[in-house]
Amino acid sequence: MVYKYKNMSVIQSFGPTSNAYLKGNFSPQVHEEEFNDLRIEGIIPPELNGKMLIRTGPNPRFKPRDMKYYHWFDGDGMMNAFYFENGKVRYKNRFVQTKKWKLEDKAGKALFGGIRSGMSTSFSGWIALKFGFFNLLKLGVRTILGKGPNRSQYESIASILNAANTNVLKQGDRLLALDEIGQPYEINADMQTIGIYNYENKLKGPSIAHPLTDFFTNETFTMGYNALPPFFQYYKIDAAGKIISYEPIDVPYGVMMHAFGLSENFVMFYHMPALFDIKNVGTREPFRWMPEKGARLGVMPRNGKNSDVKWFEIPLCWVFHNMNMYEEGDWLVTDVAKYSRIPLLDLGTENPSPPFSLDPVAILVRWRLNRLTGELKEEILTEKPVEFPNMDERFATKKHAHGYYVRLENGEQNDGLWNTLIHHNFETGKEQRYWFGEDCYTGEAVFTPKHADSPEGEGYLMNVVYDTKENKSRLTIFDAMEVDKGPIATVHLPRRIEYDFHGNIVEIQKS
Ligand SMILES: [Fe+2]
Repeated sequence: MVYKYKNMSVIQSFGPTSNAYLKGNFSPQVHEEEFNDLRIEGIIPPELNGKMLIRTGPNPRFKPRDMKYYHWFDGDGMMNAFYFENGKVRYKNRFVQTKKWKLEDKAGKALFGGIRSGMSTSFSGWIALKFGFFNLLKLGVRTILGKGPNRSQYESIASILNAANTNVLKQGDRLLALDEIGQPYEINADMQTIGIYNYENKLKGPSIAHPLTDFFTNETFTMGYNALPPFFQYYKIDAAGKIISYEPIDVPYGVMMHAFGLSENFVMFYHMPALFDIKNVGTREPFRWMPEKGARLGVMPRNGKNSDVKWFEIPLCWVFHNMNMYEEGDWLVTDVAKYSRIPLLDLGTENPSPPFSLDPVAILVRWRLNRLTGELKEEILTEKPVEFPNMDERFATKKHAHGYYVRLENGEQNDGLWNTLIHHNFETGKEQRYWFGEDCYTGEAVFTPKHADSPEGEGYLMNVVYDTKENKSRLTIFDAMEVDKGPIATVHLPRRIEYDFHGNIVEIQKS
């Protein structure tokens, strides 16, 4: 059911709900569309010609089987792309045609539950997953006994939970849409889904959506985390996008690890207490915040082995994203968006999907970790709520001068989460900011350099901005060195784009 909306507070694509993840601009756009020759204010920089901004986010195609326990992370991956062609801009959105999407497309309705609603999966959903009667019975008994699924059952369930809804990026010649429960889906520049890419069977399990590339060496590193051992997996990927080494990392129990740190010589693992225990898969909270388990950072030479990892206890916290990591002698320096606990999950309220205003928020801090002693020094960079720290990734692993993030100013998280773009100059300590306006919200800012050899920070930033009053979205393009002057170009869409997670700017031809 699609409601006619006067303002965003009543946009509810699947009918009335108290679930914050299905309301307002968090609710899905269920149609795939294309808009050519969009209205542009200002001038599209010529350097963007031939490039595209491609993003992905959660967007349930069909009414969830369990509206109450639907989680933001469950939604089918919807890619939103802006193509820059000869000064004009074209927009197109397409679902990632995952295994789940294809089965539900055939059925014409939702078949499967999500991370907190696995029990709402339909019988035909289980049959589609090739769970025969006895396997289903076995799963039921294991669930009642509190054991959770066995490995093969879990892998089957995880293949459905993989929504490819978290990031889109280029690896070698491949364009990948990633999640962190499953393996990447390869797509093309026209956003057609090619299929799962498992690095010629060298990916041993899932991969996270934030691989890190050192553009000085053209090496990429990525991780996987799992509810079953090995709980952490670490991979090295060459410039052609092939996995060339794999190392299982020993940790005593599984946790969510959304991202990790990479410097010139070291890697930093986050082992923070959002427990991902197989026993809890199939319950209402597969990820449990257990502060009594503590938080620790693991440091390993980036070409090292599990036996080289040094673990250091740190004060309790949660981190999804970091900006970069670099070395100063024995110290590893990294800027992270730090929470007091994991947001979005296991919030312990009566409402399983409470308003975002009840979620914890992150502040930006600079960590200096002595990789020999484990001493951790923390400097607060900004105390207002922030997320999506980002940078000119060509300079990642070395000391960065410029960083970008979005911040919430003068308001609380509700209809949207962030409303201000920040350029932080780490050399001068000064920031430039741009507020997107009354009742306008944004997400991650994506950077692209003007030219391949431009100095650090000389480039453009792009944000998708949602205007709750107009119920429409726009793309803003900033000169990254002059954020406070406002966008140099604004591209207007005839409708809204649902809030999404991450994306990148890539060349159209080579995608
Ligand atoms: Fe992320």
